[in-house]
Amino acid sequence: MPGDTNDAVRASLHEHMAWWGLRHIESDAAYFAWQREVFTPQELDTLHRSIEAKRAAPHGSAADIAFYDLTARPQSVPALYSQRYEYYLEVGSRIAGRLEGADTILDIGCGIGLLTTFYATHCPGATVVGLDRSPASIALARHRAQDLGLTNVRFDCVDLDRHHPVGRFDVIVATHVLLQAEQDPGLPSSDWQSFARAADAQAQQAFEQRTGVGPRLDRLCGALGSQGRLLVFEKARQLARRIPLQRALAARGLGLLAPPEPIRYRSIEETTEDGPLFVTGCAFPSQVLPWDESPEPDGLPPLRVGQLRSVPVDPDQPLYENHGPSAQQAWLDLPAKQVVNQVTKKEADGRQLHVEWGWAGAFVYLYCANTFDQRQLVVIEPARAALVETYYQEIAGHQPGGGRDVVQ
Ligand SMILES: C[S@@+](CC[C@H](N)C(=O)[O-])C[C@H]1O[C@@H](n2cnc3c(N)ncnc32)[C@H](O)[C@@H]1O
Repeated sequence: MPGDTNDAVRASLHEHMAWWGLRHIESDAAYFAWQREVFTPQELDTLHRSIEAKRAAPHGSAADIAFYDLTARPQSVPALYSQRYEYYLEVGSRIAGRLEGADTILDIGCGIGLLTTFYATHCPGATVVGLDRSPASIALARHRAQDLGLTNVRFDCVDLDRHHPVGRFDVIVATHVLLQAEQDPGLPSSDWQSFARAADAQAQQAFEQRTGVGPRLDRLCGALGSQGRLLVFEKARQLARRIPLQRALAARGLGLLAPPEPIRYRSIEETTEDGPLFVTGCAFPSQVLPWDESPEPDGLPPLRVGQLRSVPVDPDQPLYENHGPSAQQAWLDLPAKQVVNQVTKKEADGRQLHVEWGWAGAFVYLYCANTFDQRQLVVIEPARAALVETYYQEIAGHQPGGGRDVVQ
């Protein structure tokens, strides 16, 4: 989308959100003060309990519907949904920019229809359908569409886990709805030194079933026109979730029509890196991009041991620290490495953890890696070697849920 068009879409989305009563709030203090103005302490307590119940419940549960019903009360919407202001802005503007040429658009899991009504306004020539399983959300969406005078949008209460969407669509939008099982860590890598996942049909099937993403995609594919596009934006930034989501899309014949786009936005003061936004469709292999299963570049500086100082500028900081995937290469590149102690163990949840410390020439290092793609390398000066050893003992000795050593 050219810059000017994008600016125009964003400006119109700001206006749309203002119409819904949303405000762009930048501080937690201001946001919580607003909540306290709008809700009684009992109401806030009920909300928090509902959030906890939703988190603890399996993906298809009544607790999830109850939560979204609770948040869809008209008087609650501005003070609750303003938390997602930047999410709507960043995601909604990108999606709107990809609706061109579509005559029929489905927004699955449309919630209260805040973005759906925007898409309908943005594409007046298209017929837009919003589906959600929260009855209160759908009721509010219908009212708001009427208030906006929209005649090209329809909202229906449908649970995608039980029913197929009716109709065929040129574009299906699925944002924060297919892979909402936030606690699900995804698929572990083959071992702690690898980011790769073997093609394990059973593990993939188990992931798709327990998160619900497989059956949901099957139903959506049935509603996608032959030249249709499925736009997917989920909480799948971690490789362990991104890879099985990509494989689930690919297994249904959906190819990548544009480079995936990670999106960064703030929820008041907290920055979230989310997505990526996948633009997919059933196209000839020559028209699609390959699915990439490697970790995103983390942009962290490589380790150059020759350039390390002998004492840190800040005595509380290491000489070098890397918490990204590139820590693995930095660890492999450590010169004259002498391991003093190491352990590789399997934790109760199945993940494999490796931790080691040792010498790299004149420096001391600590390295941790696990099969959920976490990597951490710390390099410090010899004077603090005892500290590294203490950290090592803490991590190596820590056995959550009764982990056991497999290598010593
Ligand atoms: C996090 S909200 C996202 C709303 C909207 N898509 C957005 O991007 O802002 C998730 C929505 O998906 C709906 N949802 C979750 N599972 C669903 C299902 N199986 N069928 C229909 N709606 C579902 C929920 O009721 C909720 O309104």
